[in-house]
Amino acid sequence: MAEQLQQLILDTLDAQLTLPDTRALKIPGQSSPAFSHDAQITILGALNSLLSREATYETHEVSSHVLTPEGVQIVREGSHEARVWAALPERGSAPLGAQDLKRAVGDDAAKVGQGRAFKSGWIAKEGNGFVKAASNITDTTQIELCEVESSGTLAAGEKALAELRKRKLIIQRKGQWFTVHKGANFSTSIAKPETDLTVDMLTSGSWKKSTFKKYNFDADGIPTSGGALHPILKVREEIRSIFLEMGFEEMPTGTFVESGFWCFDALFVPQLHPARELQDTFYLSDPSTSLPPPSDYYERVARVHEHGGYGSIGYRTPWSHEESHKLLLRTHTTASSAAMLYKLAAKCRGEDIDGDLSAKSQPGPGNPSGDGFRPAKLFSIDRVFRNETMDATHLAEFHQVEGVVADQNLTLADLIGFMRTFFRKMGMKNLRFKPAYNPYTEPSLEIFAWHPLLEKWVEIGNSGMFRPEMLAPMGFPPDVRVHGWGIGLERPTMIRYGVNNIRTLVGHKTSIENVENSPAVMF
Ligand code: PHE
Repeated sequence: MAEQLQQLILDTLDAQLTLPDTRALKIPGQSSPAFSHDAQITILGALNSLLSREATYETHEVSSHVLTPEGVQIVREGSHEARVWAALPERGSAPLGAQDLKRAVGDDAAKVGQGRAFKSGWIAKEGNGFVKAASNITDTTQIELCEVESSGTLAAGEKALAELRKRKLIIQRKGQWFTVHKGANFSTSIAKPETDLTVDMLTSGSWKKSTFKKYNFDADGIPTSGGALHPILKVREEIRSIFLEMGFEEMPTGTFVESGFWCFDALFVPQLHPARELQDTFYLSDPSTSLPPPSDYYERVARVHEHGGYGSIGYRTPWSHEESHKLLLRTHTTASSAAMLYKLAAKCRGEDIDGDLSAKSQPGPGNPSGDGFRPAKLFSIDRVFRNETMDATHLAEFHQVEGVVADQNLTLADLIGFMRTFFRKMGMKNLRFKPAYNPYTEPSLEIFAWHPLLEKWVEIGNSGMFRPEMLAPMGFPPDVRVHGWGIGLERPTMIRYGVNNIRTLVGHKTSIENVENSPAVMF
């Protein structure tokens, strides 16, 4: 087609010397002259291929009109009023009721068409229905729109165009057309310019007579392919930088496999808690038991579960070593937080374990009491596993974002204030807190955020002040409070990027193309 069009332009130039108005051209394969915007764009492409050899051109700006989808429909099926008229019986026959009219022409056409048909005197009311009032009509709207479609304008003039614009049947569009002249190297045969200088051309000397295609420095480059961060990783990086800018240290979270002790017991989760059951937690079969935890600490944890202590009465149920030693896939990253807090308390216990955390715990301005404690702000973002039935919003593994803050005399107000700051940085300004229950925190709060697009409160996280039954066996002094919270990573990512099935985001159904084109990777 492109070559045929070029040939047509050259033949026309050959016959007439100039082509005064490209809107008069009939593009090969099309029935009407090239009045439309798209047709002129096609012609422009052909002209540029001939430019500075066979042809030159001048550009003229025009404003023309194109049909809206409603306008297109009217060209095809007639105006609403004409369709209403056509659907009605002749005067004297039984009138057609309003409901039947709607059924015949559709709700929209019935509504708009009825009024207009009345005004033009095409239809009349009779009894409970309508009949034709005119035996013949001229559908001016359709005729005018056909004219606009083929020429971009109307012989009837600007007033008639304005009326069609007002009725949103056409819109104005800036367009171009061209006047074409013969170029310096005019010929009716299209020279196929060379695109490359080859060895053959050089040895044969044919390059001297060849014409070469000009470089087009305005052409779009070929899209480059390269790595793209998965949306979940992108959001993970954003959250990580919020934590870092708030002075948090990242916790090591490489331990996907944990023991019942660190995942539950250390957190004062009762050994008979339903979360520990097989349908909620994945247990390992080989190996199935863990190495023993630090023995003194293990003893203290077992004691507080079975008999209480530190002001608590405990659960008063027999302690099971077996339950504590079971290996499992961690169900929350709070298992890692517990291990880190245990390390943080080392100096308070008078130990000097490997952690660089305890190394800084000298008495000094940040730690006036000299009890070995130093305040800490820790976070992690990593995978957890739950034995869930999978569906559009649940998988058996997902990411948790978790943070803990340890300091002397922290209060619930510190936790709430802290979360307001943190979530504001994540773009969530409107928060609500609801009392909740966790075995390891008291009080506990669920966090809800107002979602402006979904127009509802969505639960985004869970939080609380860790219980003394958890902190005291670790060795923290009684005035040290630790608060913590956990939020999901997939859910905010899904909401943010309009993903409604988690399986398109995670797992084998993820398409690389989606990842590359996802708005999340573009900033
Ligand atoms: N572990 C909790 C969860 O899985 C989150 C949490 C962490 C709650 C720390 C309180 C304190 O939802």
